[in-house]
Amino acid sequence: MGPPHPPHRTQRGGTAVTDAAQNGDQTRDETRDVSGAGTRDASGDRIREDAVEAALGKLDLDTKTRLLAGQDMWSLPALPEIGLSSLVMSDGPIGVRGVRWTADDPSIALPSPTALAASWDPALARRAGRLLAQEARRKGVHVLLAPTVNLHRSPLGGRHFECYSEDPYLTGEIGSGYVNGVQDGGVGTTVKHFVGNDAETERFTVDCVIAPRPLRELYLAPFEAIVANAHPWGIMTSYNRLNGTSMTENTHLVNEVLRAEWGFDGYNVSDWMAARSTTGDILGGLDVAMPGPDTVYGPALAEAVRAGEVPESAVDAAVRNVLRLAARVGALEGAPPAVTEVPDAVDGQALAREIAARGFVLVRNEGGVLPLAGGGGRTVALLGAAARDARILGGGSATVFPERLITPLDGLTEALPEGALTFAVGADPSEELTPADKGFTLRAVCRDAAGAVLGEGSLPSGQVQWIGDDLPAGVSYGTLASIEVTGTFLPRESGDHAFGTRGLGAFALTVDGTLLWEGVQELGNEADPFEAFFGAPSERAGIPLTEGRPVEVSLTYRVPDMGAVSLKAIMFSLLHLGPRRDADDLIAEAVEAARNADTAIVVVATTERVESEGFDREDLTLPGRQDDLVRAVAAVNPNTVVVVNAGSPVELPWREEVAAVLLTWFPGQEGGAALADVLLGDAEPGGRLPTTWPVAFADAPVTEVIPTEGRLEYAEGLLIGYRAYEAGSVVPAYPFGHGLGYTDWAYESLEAGPEGVRVRLTNIGTRPGREVVQVYLAPVADSVERPASWLAGFAGVEAGPGESVEVEIALPARTFEIWDEEARGWRRIGGGYEVRASRSHTDTRLTVTLDLA
Ligand code: BGC
Repeated sequence: MGPPHPPHRTQRGGTAVTDAAQNGDQTRDETRDVSGAGTRDASGDRIREDAVEAALGKLDLDTKTRLLAGQDMWSLPALPEIGLSSLVMSDGPIGVRGVRWTADDPSIALPSPTALAASWDPALARRAGRLLAQEARRKGVHVLLAPTVNLHRSPLGGRHFECYSEDPYLTGEIGSGYVNGVQDGGVGTTVKHFVGNDAETERFTVDCVIAPRPLRELYLAPFEAIVANAHPWGIMTSYNRLNGTSMTENTHLVNEVLRAEWGFDGYNVSDWMAARSTTGDILGGLDVAMPGPDTVYGPALAEAVRAGEVPESAVDAAVRNVLRLAARVGALEGAPPAVTEVPDAVDGQALAREIAARGFVLVRNEGGVLPLAGGGGRTVALLGAAARDARILGGGSATVFPERLITPLDGLTEALPEGALTFAVGADPSEELTPADKGFTLRAVCRDAAGAVLGEGSLPSGQVQWIGDDLPAGVSYGTLASIEVTGTFLPRESGDHAFGTRGLGAFALTVDGTLLWEGVQELGNEADPFEAFFGAPSERAGIPLTEGRPVEVSLTYRVPDMGAVSLKAIMFSLLHLGPRRDADDLIAEAVEAARNADTAIVVVATTERVESEGFDREDLTLPGRQDDLVRAVAAVNPNTVVVVNAGSPVELPWREEVAAVLLTWFPGQEGGAALADVLLGDAEPGGRLPTTWPVAFADAPVTEVIPTEGRLEYAEGLLIGYRAYEAGSVVPAYPFGHGLGYTDWAYESLEAGPEGVRVRLTNIGTRPGREVVQVYLAPVADSVERPASWLAGFAGVEAGPGESVEVEIALPARTFEIWDEEARGWRRIGGGYEVRASRSHTDTRLTVTLDLA
């Protein structure tokens, strides 16, 4: 029971109606609106359509087909004759990289999509979207290549960190908030990857075999919800095939489902290099083939029309979609942009910090070890290489380069009194070389075939990623024959330093006047063409160096003939790894530090070779000796807190041996500051699991992502994630929806009707807090085959100690429906439903029965 007259609030769709609201503050609806809104000009639709038709009418066939093909890596051609500017696209989910792939064009890096989803807060996702729109405008980007809304089908999926959840409803809600936010700022989105790109192995060719019900009820569901709730201006079709048909040619899913059935009116762009058939793609509803300049559209498409293989009306339809996008983003003269006044400016650093803390999931907190008790004299041993070299984002196309990066070591050093913190490496998850960085001063010298210098470029690290025409002044693809990364290296430690390369082509590596390696790296037959980009680092040679004695370094790279892979891009890296120390010594040193401290905080992490794009994971173990480190530390310090810095589930075999486990995902550029906020109790860990964490990999419902003879059967049907755990007998380490805050809640009443539920709860702890009230439906006696229960709605509520809150959560009509394979339509299933108000999928606090007519 709360106090006699508890402050009492009612919340609808996630935002509380408080006394303040009744006193005149605005009441807000979470997914539809957020304060500081820009002005969207819906009435401009008609004028934009007229402008689109007028512009289309002025274009000849060749120009139209030219507009449908990338002119380079990221943009479409400008057509000054109709007042059309070049439309610029850019990745990606957690930031806006812009057209340059380099650290000297920095971007705000938000937490990984798994972290955003862990907030269970569509309004926060919307605010993230607005920040990204602001970033896009700053970088001249019209369309963001995001969000990624494929599902967490298997934890092995390489881009798991880049997707939101194993649950289609949560994915659709977070994705809708995100899309609304980006588009509030007048910037387009491309919801990706439509559809079935839930793993990476053989991603260009794999045929995902998915039955109609799981396809509709799981994999298409987030796309459908986002189209309905957020009206995205774009969609990206994936590389894979689906039930035998390439997604870029999938006229059924694109033309019939996405467009005709759902009413999508945006543009449809291929994933990069996914468009492989001129006629198949245009007839399949693919509007734009990216990247350019060599694509299956352009002249090839004009020729197909002239040969009578493609009706010109199909080209017109695609051009119309592109022009509509241009009109919306303000790139077509004479058409009013969809957003006339952008939202208030967002402080990116502050938002990155807020989202990080809101996404952290505290899965274990024995004896209330967190938040760390205040008071002077308490000491902390911070352990783990990832505390110093934080992993703030996942790899692949989602990569951006932040201007600053707060590691856990930075964050805690700043927050704790002087002398309270000690740090030891303990274990290093990465034995691999990374782009030459600390201690290196480098530049790139570009030469022609005769060795004459064409130009030079600055290099913030050993990574050269020049995309499209973003080459140093005076350099062009026609004349460029070699690039030398050259400069000095000042070693931080004495010992054997390893050097290596990443990329395809011929290399010569010289350090301190000695030629260490000369050789060629070729593209393997099986490899993903993006291997050059994201591929494995190769160690080439080692050399003993002395701390503080600078040496000259040089890596010369000969531009290769990439054959079929005709990307206008230069991508290679000079890699380095400092002297490796004995792993047992490192652990012993950390144990000593832990023994002498009141609290031990161990940061464990995955690496870029574990979670990235273009390949899947092989298991869920933490790399290196990190498990040994945690066990050794926990054995000497009962207050051991483990911070898990991974974008997706990993096995935590020691989880019952430590006092607390905090999942921080890839926490973005301000992650270390947010970590200090949460560990010291200035902020609550606000997250709930968007995906079930298994005890062991073998327990995961789907453990196979390698296609058999090119086919990947989704044989589990509807049973992924928590739906599968509930159907079987395996208990996960941490269930879907689980997460502890710093306060506690009593669920007091639950009323339910077909339209929605009303839950009353009280904060019975001693601190203010936020609770995510989760509503699950469980059919009482099912007349059809369905999962035993599923997430039907949720809302976040906030309350101070002793305060009660009442929240109304709408139930979408779809939650009572199944896809009827015979009737090819949705069917409402009447009967009895147990409605559960829960703290996680397995922690139900209240139930009522609802009889649905
Ligand atoms: C990825 C997309 C990305 C594109 C452009 C592709 O390899 O699958 O998600 O937007 O590259 O970087």
